[in-house]
Amino acid sequence: AVAPVIAIDGPAASGKGTLARRLAAHYGLPWMDTGLLYRAVAMGVLTRGAALDDEPVAVAVARALPADFADDPALRTGEAGAAASRVAALPGVRAALLDVQRAFAAAPGGAVLDGRDIGTVICPEAPAKLFVTASAEARADRRYRELAARDPAASYDQILADIRKRDADDAARAVAPLVPAEDAILLDTTHLGVEEAFAAARAIVEQRL
Ligand code: C5P
Repeated sequence: AVAPVIAIDGPAASGKGTLARRLAAHYGLPWMDTGLLYRAVAMGVLTRGAALDDEPVAVAVARALPADFADDPALRTGEAGAAASRVAALPGVRAALLDVQRAFAAAPGGAVLDGRDIGTVICPEAPAKLFVTASAEARADRRYRELAARDPAASYDQILADIRKRDADDAARAVAPLVPAEDAILLDTTHLGVEEAFAAARAIVEQRL
C-alpha cells in the first residue's frame, strides 16, 4: 500500500499550516512545516553576518541545520518569512534541504508536509495533494488580526503589500516556483472558516487515501 503522505502547498497565510497541523493530529501522522527550514536557514545566514544571497554560506547553514532545531517564535515573524523567501530562491539551499524533507516523508506510517513545492518536487508520488489558496486580501486580513492583537502598530496595507510581494517572488523564481502540482486539488479558503476549511480538506484527503 502507498504510505499516506499528505502534501500541502500554497502561498503565505493561506491557512495551509493550520490545515496541515490539524490533519496531522486527526490522522495521527507526523507533520513537517517546511517553511521553518527556510526560515531557520535565513536566520542562520543573518546571524553569521552574511547576505541573504550568499549561496555558499546559506548552503553551509542548510547542511548544518540540526534535524530538531527549535521552533523559535523569532522564526515566525514577517521579517523571517521575507528573508526565508530570499534564501529559498537559491538552488543550492533547496538541494541541501531535499534529503531531510524526503526522509521525513518516507516514514513508514505516512506524514504531512506543508510548503511550496511538496507536491511538485519533494513528494511527487504523494497520494493526497492539496493546494490551499485564498485571496491576498483575505490572507492579509487574517495576518492582520493575528498581529494586531500583539502589535497595535500593525498595518493592514503593509501586510497586504508584503503578501503580494512574497507571492510574486515565490511564483517568479526559477527553481521550484509556487505552482500547484497537476494532480493537486485546489482548496480556496477565502470564504471558509477554520472548521469549514478543515472539513473540506478532510474530504479531499479521504477521497485520495
Ligand atoms: O510557509 P512559510 O511562510 O513559512 O515559508 C517562508 C518562505 O520559505 C516562503 O515565502 C518561500 O519562499 C519559502 N519556502 C519554500 N519552499 C517551501 C517552504 C517555504 O520556498 N517548501
